[in-house]
Amino acid sequence: MTAPLLVAMPGNEAMAHKLAPMLAAEVGGIELRSFPDGETYLRFMSSLSDRTLVIVCTLDRPNEKILPLLFAAATARELGATKVGLVAPYLAYMRQDRRFKPGEAVTSREVARLVSDRFDWLVTVDPHLHRYGSLAEIYTIPTCVVHAAPLISQWIREHVSNPLIIGTDIESEQWVSAVAHDADAPYSVLEKIRRADRDVEISIRDMQHLDGRTPVLVDDIISSGRTMLEAVRLIMQPGAPKPVCVAVHGLFADLSDILLVQTGARVVTSNSVPHKTNDIDVAELVASAITGLRS
Ligand code: R5P
Repeated sequence: MTAPLLVAMPGNEAMAHKLAPMLAAEVGGIELRSFPDGETYLRFMSSLSDRTLVIVCTLDRPNEKILPLLFAAATARELGATKVGLVAPYLAYMRQDRRFKPGEAVTSREVARLVSDRFDWLVTVDPHLHRYGSLAEIYTIPTCVVHAAPLISQWIREHVSNPLIIGTDIESEQWVSAVAHDADAPYSVLEKIRRADRDVEISIRDMQHLDGRTPVLVDDIISSGRTMLEAVRLIMQPGAPKPVCVAVHGLFADLSDILLVQTGARVVTSNSVPHKTNDIDVAELVASAITGLRS
């Protein structure tokens, strides 16, 4: 059987090179650039005939990535790829899971339709499943979700002594309690009201006293950073250990990585989105998920 071909869309090279040996895959090349008018030029640099192609493309800042990704998948089929899988460690648009106001687009469904039409399967890491029970509600292709919680617990065990795990909203309680259980630490959950994209109010519901513990705030996504920034401000106490902010996906809009570091907090993310705060490696779990879907 020919080895599968892994192709990294721009910015995903590090993940593709980590995955390749775990999958006994070859890394293929792609030329992708913009014409002067902004249209996309795309060319595969390896033969795709009769091969399984795995495209690695995390979907932070998705609008600029989705059209080239769809071109790539369609072209791969034209060039003879037998299967085309997508590894999108961060899956965009999942938070638009309802028509909150009349007339709004439920973009999670639209992205799911576009991806399902072009790919044979999808592997992702902790998609934001809030009002959907599973990806199968909107994706019509086989999907496999990697859960970063055990890796987060392991990171906390190895790097933080005497932690108190803190979830940033009530919805995160189940997830946060699992992280805390595996990290052998107590946990508390804050209350969050989001009034607008950049207007978040966080309050303490029933928090355990820090008692010298290091607060470890955990969330699935840091986007504008308002949730983490407000939480850090709320729990930061003079003389107490500085908080650690841990997220699966660091999107860091609005320079929120810099703003968070300026508070004195340590910021740690998984490598689902490449960033200098990546200290939790999901590649091995992603490789197992790919193997499971391909077999
Ligand atoms: C929301 O439900 C998520 O779990 C995150 O808390 C949220 O996406 C963070 O967004 P931001 O960084 O913009 O406050």
